[in-house]
Amino acid sequence: MFIGLVLLALAVLSSEAYRCCVPTLWEANEGMMMASSVHGKSSLEEHFTRVSFDGNQKIVAVVYLSAPNQNKRIVQDFSKMTQYSIQGTECHKSILSVPWDPYCIADNATLLQDFYYGTPENRLDAQTFSTSRFGLNGYFTVTKRECVPIALTLMGTVSGVDNFWVFGMSNFTMGIQDPSFFNVPDTCT
Ligand SMILES: *[C@@H]1O[C@H](CO)[C@@H](O)[C@H](O)[C@H]1NC(C)=O
Ligand SMILES: *[C@@H]1O[C@H](CO)[C@@H](O)[C@H](O)[C@H]1NC(C)=O
Repeated sequence: MFIGLVLLALAVLSSEAYRCCVPTLWEANEGMMMASSVHGKSSLEEHFTRVSFDGNQKIVAVVYLSAPNQNKRIVQDFSKMTQYSIQGTECHKSILSVPWDPYCIADNATLLQDFYYGTPENRLDAQTFSTSRFGLNGYFTVTKRECVPIALTLMGTVSGVDNFWVFGMSNFTMGIQDPSFFNVPDTCT
């Protein structure tokens, strides 16, 4: 009976199994290029940011490094489904429209490439998987050993808008060195 229960539990677990999930607590630089086009009218957004990710509290902070004089930061608190946009002394609240995403590679994701960066002697082993996110399809590259995110490409059409988004991560560090990036002013409206 007991063994039966254990086997059942394993079966339930494995049906939600992941190939890997990105680490729970980390910080990294993230470059983003988001190109969109509506009826042939195109726009491009480019940012260079420092991202702090706390998978325990389900909270993400993004500091915009490419516009240092704007002093801009976004905090997404998925436990409250609230986004805080902070710029200088101003802060605005809005409702998050996408659910919390722990950045896991699903067990049924297709492994597209197994490869390395660098040289065979000084290598960083990585894997690229098919992925879908925000209603778009694309590719997600992570390191093979620790599932550290490296690159994410997404493309597709949502509500008549054609999108091509590229994200690249660098200078990844484990843990949260500066938790103050998650702070939001009490006065946020
Ligand atoms: C993988 O499985 C999930 C749920 O188990 C499903 O929603 C998703 O469509 C599947 N993806 C692929 C690529 O088969
Ligand atoms: C990335 O890390 C290197 C080495 O630790 C450091 O010299 C560099 O300034 C960092 N780059 C950015 C953009 O943070």
